[in-house]
This record gives sequence, C-alpha cells and structure tokens, in this order.
Amino acid sequence: MREHQTDTVIPSLVGEDDRAPRWQQEFPYHWDADTLVSRRELLRFAVYTSGTLFAATALLTVLGAIRQVRPPTFPTKLIGRIDQVAEGEAFYFTYPGPQDQAMLLHLPGGQFVAYSQKCTHLSCAVLYEPERSRLYCPCHDGVFNPVTGDAVAGPPRRRLPRVLLQREADRIFAVGLMP
Ligand code: FES
Repeated sequence: MREHQTDTVIPSLVGEDDRAPRWQQEFPYHWDADTLVSRRELLRFAVYTSGTLFAATALLTVLGAIRQVRPPTFPTKLIGRIDQVAEGEAFYFTYPGPQDQAMLLHLPGGQFVAYSQKCTHLSCAVLYEPERSRLYCPCHDGVFNPVTGDAVAGPPRRRLPRVLLQREADRIFAVGLMP
C-alpha cells in the first residue's frame, strides 16, 4: 500500500529545514529574496491597466465611427467607347479593383447600366441574357432585373451592387460602386 506523503517530515533529511513539510524541502522558497508588492502598488497597476484598456477601446470605437461616416472612395476608370457595346449586349470589365468583375449593359432603348458581376448569393458570376431580359446566375438559378439590379428569383435576396457611370462624349467611365 502506498504511503501517504503530504506534510510528512522525512527523518533522513536532517538539517535546518528538517521540521518543514516535505513539499517545502523539495521546493524551497526564499522569502527573504522575494520582492514584496504592496497592495497600493497592485492597485495602482490595476488602475493603469484598466485605464489603458479603456482608452484603447474608446480610440478604436472612434476610429470605427469615423470610417463608417466617411464614404469609401472609388477610382474613375474608362470602360470604353459607347459604340463598342451594341444595344442589347453586355461588355464585361473589372471595377473597382482588377479582380472585381463587372458588366456594362446596353439595354434595349439605349440606356446604359452597370453592375458588379458577383452574385449576392454565393458570389458566382452573373451573366446577361438579353433574349430573356434578365441577369442570370447559373450556380443556383438566381435571377436579377437588368434595369434595376434587384433580385427577382432564386436564392439571392439582395440586389447587385451598381457601378455608377459617367459619360463624356462617346466614352463611358465607371466612377463609383453603390451596394
Ligand atoms: S451564387 Fe448565384 S444564385 Fe447562388
């Protein structure tokens, strides 16, 4: 049977600590070499730490609010000449970044509109189907209205982000993105 060893004085360890429990003999602690921290110092440390954390949180909150208030800026990008896109056709380009697929539609009647090509369901590429007067996402049969960009059928619930356009003579530019 195993011997119970807690707080047992070991007779073989004779010396100045021979009255100490076994755990103190095996892990001696030198109190005289320790630096004592007063309650006041501990309290001061806690106050400084709390104050620093509070200030950091307040700063992050303010920075987040400023970021929300300030609208994002978008580049002005030449898409092409108007006569490059026949009525009832689409022209695919990237905006605002080189990875952001977008499409310019020349709607029947002459109106130009542009949208992000990224489906608002799960980001598949949306295609223009002028013969069916719709924007179609083949991944899950999502359908958008080509005039407004609104989701009208299938799983998407949000409209396509609209690329803001600006015309200068026969050229057309992308100047912003409206979610
Ligand atoms: S990703 Fe477009 S409908 Fe699902």
